[in-house]
Amino acid sequence: MSPATLPQPDLQRHFERTIERDQRIEPRDWLPEGYRKTMIRMIAQHAHSEIIGMQPEGNWITRAPSLRRKAILLAKVQDEAGHGLYLYSAAETLGADRAELTEKLISGKQKYSSIFNYPTLTFADVGVIGWLVDGAAICNQVPLCRSSYGPYARAMIRICKEESFHQRQGYELLLTMMRGTPRQRDMVQESVDRWWWPSLMMFGPPDAESPHTEQSMAWKIKRHTNDELRQRFVDMTVPQAEMLGVSLPDPDLKWNAKRGHYDFGEIDWSEFKQVVSGNGPCNAQRVAHRRAAHTDGAWVREAAAAYAAKRAGRSAA
Ligand SMILES: [Fe+2]
Ligand SMILES: [Fe+2]
Repeated sequence: MSPATLPQPDLQRHFERTIERDQRIEPRDWLPEGYRKTMIRMIAQHAHSEIIGMQPEGNWITRAPSLRRKAILLAKVQDEAGHGLYLYSAAETLGADRAELTEKLISGKQKYSSIFNYPTLTFADVGVIGWLVDGAAICNQVPLCRSSYGPYARAMIRICKEESFHQRQGYELLLTMMRGTPRQRDMVQESVDRWWWPSLMMFGPPDAESPHTEQSMAWKIKRHTNDELRQRFVDMTVPQAEMLGVSLPDPDLKWNAKRGHYDFGEIDWSEFKQVVSGNGPCNAQRVAHRRAAHTDGAWVREAAAAYAAKRAGRSAA
């Protein structure tokens, strides 16, 4: 008997055993409704973040200081569009409708990463986003390459390779600026001061207040808690900051030999809550921009659908 025709309790057991054995759940497999919903929510939120995440850096494409920097930035922002598209496709394998997901994003029903609600004020922000924001994304996403849902885990492998390019291009840009004039060095430091704390917030609320973590860990959707990943990011980033010659804006940041980790100060969770609930500096602007792009692109979607229908008619004939 194939798994698809088993009675319900056996299907449940088959699902649980697949998870226990560290095997992947695939679109053809039976899965509990809660798992499907959690997975769609997580993938959609990730896809939306990639798409909205194009805006802060896209802001600097026309003003990049050289052709080389413009080409790099263009490639990077284009990669983020690609990440969004693979992820929407992964959500579709769970029965989600892409148009519906876009609708939920532009009507504010679904969220995206809080980090993209901060403005990019100088070109140093391009470097700092690559270094810290893409760096934090890598910390979050590398373990997701072993996530229990096959299409998501496989999308994440390619995404992580590209994120690694993003992180290095950011760090290389900052190294170049730090070797430049005192004004360029100040610009880097000022940017680091603005982005450090919001980057730490990217890992989400503390474990004690993270409503979905426990179930997601049991289903092996997530492999590490928010606080574990945040600590890993801090430990990885402090030596990089030293090498760069910038200071991180936290007086409590220091090595703790006993724990074998860096200690760091308290995150301003009230700011995080404000930004997540729609009151960050750029929330309204980001969503309005996405909504306008969706409206302006209606004729492209209509033309593509008409062309597909014409081709389908021809092959049926
Ligand atoms: Fe990305
Ligand atoms: Fe990226």
